[in-house]
Amino acid sequence: MFDTMVITKAVAGVCSALLIFLLGMWVSETIYLPHGEAPVAYAIDIGEAEVDDGEPAEEVDIAELFASADPDAGEGLWRQCRACHVMDEGVNGVGPYLHGVVGREISSVDGFNYSGALTQLGDVWTVEALNAFIENPRGAAPGTTMGYNGMRGLQDRLNLIAWMERESQ
Ligand code: HEC
Repeated sequence: MFDTMVITKAVAGVCSALLIFLLGMWVSETIYLPHGEAPVAYAIDIGEAEVDDGEPAEEVDIAELFASADPDAGEGLWRQCRACHVMDEGVNGVGPYLHGVVGREISSVDGFNYSGALTQLGDVWTVEALNAFIENPRGAAPGTTMGYNGMRGLQDRLNLIAWMERESQ
């Protein structure tokens, strides 16, 4: 069997191998990794990162698009909201009533227990604010209690907003 010396040598062998490995790593890191604020040697310009949110990258004029939105096409989309919202004035569900919401002050329905998160979007529900909120409620107003995941199509959102505006007249 092995005597103590053999075991000692084996352990010493493993330890020094590890030490050499660690030293090697340290040396190569010192040589190759950038130090402090030193500039990266080869910075490659990949242009502005583009976030693909499924919408055209160019600026869209919401007001102009809204002018030609189709309330009839928006009517069917209301299905996604009516589990929690009612169009009739003064009738709150899980969410506040939405009669007259276009142009209404944000978080202003009496007796509704708002989260307080919506005022991040401004004072008044403009078409732009509604569009941003409906697209991604929790993204536009972090902390909102509106449990709705968002509507992806810009035209759909504008059609729905146009329908809500028409229903309020
Ligand atoms: C699961 C329930 C639920 C669904 C579905 C839902 N909402 Fe809401 N909504 C809420 C709640 C709750 C609030 C209050 C949020 C807060 O205070 O943060 C709210 C708030 C709002 C507000 C702000 C109203 C105000 O008085 O300031 C608007 C506008 C709105 N919802 C539109 C919609 C639209 C449009 C849809 C459908 C596309 C929709 N919601 C779907 C629950 C819902």
